[in-house]
Amino acid sequence: MKVCVLGAAGGIGQPLSLLLKLQLPAGSQLSLYDVAPFTPGVAVDLSHIPTDVSVRGFVGDDVEAAMAGADIVVIPAGVPRKPGMTRDDLFNMNAGIVKKLVAAGAKACPNACFAIVTNPVNSTVPIAAEVLKSAGVYDKRKLFGVTTLDVIRSQTFVADLKGKSCDDVNVNVIGGHSGVTILPLLSSVPGVELSQDEIESLTLRIQEAGTEVVEAKAGAGSATLSMAQAATRFTLSLVVAMNGESVVECCYVQTGDATSSFHAQPVKLGKNGVDSIPALPALSDYEQKLLDQMRDTLEANISKGLEYANA
Ligand SMILES: NC(=O)c1ccc[n+]([C@@H]2O[C@H](COP(=O)([O-])OP(=O)(O)OC[C@H]3O[C@@H](n4cnc5c(N)ncnc54)[C@H](O)[C@@H]3O)[C@@H](O)[C@H]2O)c1
Repeated sequence: MKVCVLGAAGGIGQPLSLLLKLQLPAGSQLSLYDVAPFTPGVAVDLSHIPTDVSVRGFVGDDVEAAMAGADIVVIPAGVPRKPGMTRDDLFNMNAGIVKKLVAAGAKACPNACFAIVTNPVNSTVPIAAEVLKSAGVYDKRKLFGVTTLDVIRSQTFVADLKGKSCDDVNVNVIGGHSGVTILPLLSSVPGVELSQDEIESLTLRIQEAGTEVVEAKAGAGSATLSMAQAATRFTLSLVVAMNGESVVECCYVQTGDATSSFHAQPVKLGKNGVDSIPALPALSDYEQKLLDQMRDTLEANISKGLEYANA
């Protein structure tokens, strides 16, 4: 399995690359690319860790060389939020980065699974879809927005509140990956009973958890370490699935026939990416109301991405 990380020298990219170096199956290749000139140095540094995963670093014009023959491309390249910014405020800076990198991937590894971390995920994933489509290589089963951070945050916060082990808590998060579009399904967490007050305050905290980190870092960026863990979990699940064992992860994928139908929800992953999309658990009235209320925002985020890609 060859895994390529684009933006590998960044706040997410470096710990993500470390976790993948430590946890990818023996025999895997890790290919690191970033515009930062010291990226080959990050690869050399990681290559001294004794695991059976080979590491190479690429920089500058070598993006296609980095991606050549990749099975999975993870993209955390781009600018993070500063206090006072929404994820949507990043659109102008990050849309072009994703467009360029995915266009290179369409040439270098057209059959790869692409996992987009770069915000605003609600819009950058539709951009990636259009780029792959115009290159004639789009397979909706192989394009993902990584929303795993919302899942692990929900898991942590629920476990903390209920005095449970995190290992015993599993929360589905649906919708998208920003503000009101993040909808944790707290009424159907197996083995956990939450009051309506607890559900409402936890929902708000999970929706605003990214901002909690941005404010605590006071201008030095957004979530990097927890995001690296989240992207590692998602990438390793993809590896397991592509090796033939199905896994369910929440992620942001095209759920209908049109590229305007992106949605985050539990997805069964298999050898070719998305294997099937299981039915959602029954939503409470509160969750259904939030799902109905987010629709316009999510659709506007998706349209913005599609319009940019096709301009
Ligand atoms: N999906 C999520 O849950 C989630 C969570 C946190 C952050 N993010 C997003 O991830 C992105 C990265 O965050 P970060 O904290 O690592 O930022 P960072 O600034 O620390 O790192 C970004 C890296 O991208 C590189 N880069 C910029 N343009 C590039 C290009 N054209 N090709 C290759 N590399 C390029 C930079 O050189 C830098 O090393 C941001 O968009 C952020 O909003 C997503």
